[in-house]
Amino acid sequence: MSFQVTLQPSGLGFPATSDETILEAALAGGLLIPYSCRDGACGVCKSKVLAGEVDHGRYSESTLTVAEREAGMALLCCAHPRSDLIVEVRQVSRAGDIPVKKLPCRVQKRSLAADDVIILELKLPASEKFQFIAGQYIDILLADGKRRSFSIANAPTSADHLELHIRRVPGGQFTTHVFEKLKEKDILRFEGPLGGFRLHDSPKPAILLAGGTGFAPIKSIVENAIATGQTRPMTLYWGSRDLAGLYQLDVARSWEARLSGFRCVPVLSDASPADNWSGRQGLAHAALMADLPDLSGHEVYACGSPAMIDAARADLTGRCQLPADAFF
Ligand code: FES
Repeated sequence: MSFQVTLQPSGLGFPATSDETILEAALAGGLLIPYSCRDGACGVCKSKVLAGEVDHGRYSESTLTVAEREAGMALLCCAHPRSDLIVEVRQVSRAGDIPVKKLPCRVQKRSLAADDVIILELKLPASEKFQFIAGQYIDILLADGKRRSFSIANAPTSADHLELHIRRVPGGQFTTHVFEKLKEKDILRFEGPLGGFRLHDSPKPAILLAGGTGFAPIKSIVENAIATGQTRPMTLYWGSRDLAGLYQLDVARSWEARLSGFRCVPVLSDASPADNWSGRQGLAHAALMADLPDLSGHEVYACGSPAMIDAARADLTGRCQLPADAFF
């Protein structure tokens, strides 16, 4: 059966059948709404169903609690419509006409940026014109049908290749392969571009908050701003445990000379004596709060572990007057 889904407060809508998730239907309808894992695990797509009925599908109970479900929340990557729906989704934009493709790519360069971070440069087929928006990601398609998501770290203006920052996950199937077996010239397959993370049009100063390899989509956004001559003030808070985790700090610092109004604030939470660190210490978002206790006139773009994102969202919206719809 087919139903109509309306998003509030934008009023944008799309058709959805009971066979597809609300997220799938939104993407098919050309709308970008927040999502990440598409598997009921990350909570990025959690939204309030204001009217209508959904089948919640399969998801992780730690992602959507019983209390949240009873309060009308649903995970849009898992839930299927059972009637016409009105859903509260504050961050929505039109995807435009950028197609999502499945493509092969060749490993052009593989470099160790830190003990647990490898940077891959993937060469795309010469016949393909691959488009993406700075901030989006791709899924690497594995032979067993599984997929692994990685943000694109280069700007769309250099889209003849894709740069990925891959952190080693202990025991992780794909990242172990990348660290132990993958060689230059190997072929991978991917699907993309995916995701709705991107810089929104606004005159407000943008705060970019990155944890570890969460730096990758931020790099794409800043390099795109440099390439396209944007003048919006941006400040990057890049947090890591130790100095090795800020694996491209020289790159981030170089943007200060290349982008007017850009500032880089590196923050270490557990610097070792060998780091000889005299810079900011603690959590990146705590450093931001100390510098800007009133964020009511800013937007924050955050990328990092789910725990970091949850803590930053709660503290910045709860204690620094950041509007909830200005935290991306
Ligand atoms: Fe991760 Fe829906 S996209 S829970």
